[in-house]
Amino acid sequence: MCAGHRKGRSGIGGPLISFEGIDGSGKSTQIAMLKKRLEALGHAVVVVREPGGTPLSEKIRDLLLNPGSSSMDARTETLLFSAARAQLVQEVIIPARERGDIILCDRFADSTLAYQGYGRELPLEEIITTQELATSRLSPNLTVLLDLAVEETEGRLQSTQPDRMERAGKAFMQRVRDGYLKLAQADPDRWLVIDATQEIEPIAREIETYVVQRIVIRS
Ligand code: TMP
Repeated sequence: MCAGHRKGRSGIGGPLISFEGIDGSGKSTQIAMLKKRLEALGHAVVVVREPGGTPLSEKIRDLLLNPGSSSMDARTETLLFSAARAQLVQEVIIPARERGDIILCDRFADSTLAYQGYGRELPLEEIITTQELATSRLSPNLTVLLDLAVEETEGRLQSTQPDRMERAGKAFMQRVRDGYLKLAQADPDRWLVIDATQEIEPIAREIETYVVQRIVIRS
C-alpha cells in the first residue's frame, strides 16, 4: 500500500477523479479498468457512482430515475441530484480523502451543470451555488470527459430499458454533450477530453498514463 496522498487541487487528501459523459459513453468500463490498474500499482481505490453510493443516495436515485416520476420539475430534479451528492460527499468521499485513498467518481457536480444547466436550461449560476453547498466546495483534481456524438450512443443503449433521464430525448442529450464540451473548454487544466469512439483499450491506456503521471505522482 502506498503512503496517503497529502495535497492536490482540492486541498488536503486523496485525489478525486470524476468521469463524465452522456449516457452510453463507456464510463463504467473505463472506471473499472482504471481501478484495477491503480490497485495493481498498490493504491487504495474507492469507486462511487452518482446519483447513489450511500443507502440514502440510492433511494434518491430510484426516485430520480424511475420513469414513474414523469411529473418531476427540473428544479426538484436539480435539488434531488444535489441532495444525493451531499450525502455521498459527507458519508464516503470526505472520509476516503482523509485516508488518502484515490476516489473514482462515476459522475459528480459537472453532471448537474451539464444535464440540469445545459440540458434542462436552468440558470447555470444558480446551479453552481447549489453545488457549493452539496459538495462542501470539493472540486475534482481531474475530470475525464468521454466525449461521443449523441448518434453514437444509440446502438450502445438499445438493449436496456431507458430510465427517466434517458427518455429526455435527442435534442436534450445534444445540449448536454455541447454543455460538457463548454465546461471542459473553460477549465482545460482540470478536464481531460477523450474521443470515446476509440476502442476500449487505447482509451484505458490514455487515461491511465495521464492519471499516473499527472495526478497520482504529483499528489
Ligand atoms: P447513470 O448512473 O446511468 O449515469 O444514470 C444517471 C442518470 O442521471 C444519467 O442519465 C445522468 C443523470 N444525471 C443528471 O441528470 N444529473 C446529475 O447530477 C447526475 C449525477 C446524473
